[in-house]
Amino acid sequence: MEKIIYASLSLVSRIFGKISRIISNAANQFEPQDIQENLVRESTQYNMVTAPDEPYYAEQYWTFIRPHLDRLSGQIQAIDLGCCQGRFTLRLAQLFPTGQVIACDLSPGAISTAKQYSQESSVTNISYRVQTVSECLKTIEPNTCDVILMTEVTFFYPEWQLDLPKIVESLKPRGILVMSFKSKYFYALMIARHRVWENVDMLINQTQGRIGRGSSVEFTWQTSTEIREILTDKFGLTLLDLVGIGVVSGMEGHDPHDNIVQPSLLNNSEREALMKLELALAPQVPDAGRYILAVARKP
Ligand SMILES: C[S@@+](CC[C@H](N)C(=O)[O-])C[C@H]1O[C@@H](n2cnc3c(N)ncnc32)[C@H](O)[C@@H]1O
Repeated sequence: MEKIIYASLSLVSRIFGKISRIISNAANQFEPQDIQENLVRESTQYNMVTAPDEPYYAEQYWTFIRPHLDRLSGQIQAIDLGCCQGRFTLRLAQLFPTGQVIACDLSPGAISTAKQYSQESSVTNISYRVQTVSECLKTIEPNTCDVILMTEVTFFYPEWQLDLPKIVESLKPRGILVMSFKSKYFYALMIARHRVWENVDMLINQTQGRIGRGSSVEFTWQTSTEIREILTDKFGLTLLDLVGIGVVSGMEGHDPHDNIVQPSLLNNSEREALMKLELALAPQVPDAGRYILAVARKP
């Protein structure tokens, strides 16, 4: 997914081409939000379950998320907002076989693949929906959810903060919210790597914008301090974890960390050592992550 999205950041026309064509075609026909949604839909051609480095990062995410779910049991209600091909939806549904999981994504293709993976795993307690995050939330009663996931969605969904009141309202007391955000530092590295110096002021002073020359895509970014303020000060949640995902590694081609190390290019023992290093550093340098993962609890 990011492979397509971050193509728009690159100054190299080889990488830039596909996304630019999608955007310029769309730009003539649609409003800005439609353009963004079309691009997002198109980006889900990238498979987050099977792409080379994703299983490594999914494992890293789950190592942090799973312990927070341990106090829950039985017929839990969960939602996965922007589930794509359902890499975490499936894990959640398998962890709570008598629970119910609602999973939404605006991409019909991603939902179709997610359904296929569920069938292959004989998992039947997921209700998949082709819906936007806000459409899905409108159907949820207040105080009914034990867990809400929204991982790697906010970075190209600029309106995400408008949904937060409804997300928090949907959680039961002591319900768990799991969200991840693209880090500001990630885009700082991206700007430096591609020498897009004209984006410097925007990155410093704003939390969203178009990174890269000629990009029509709105990205968002946060620091760990901002995430803490939003979740705790603004929404009164208790922060349980705030960690960086992929603090010293990255994925091929579109990720400023990729020239440090790509997990999929390592042998098993090297990859284990990398995982150990990243898990240990994750809480110490959350902003260095490709994403910042926050796990929070409603009082
Ligand atoms: C990078 S993927 C992450 C998928 C999944 N949460 C995970 O971590 O594997 C982002 C997903 O968010 C979805 N998305 C982005 N904005 C959305 C919106 N407003 N409503 C529903 N889905 C959205 C995209 O279609 C895409 O499948």
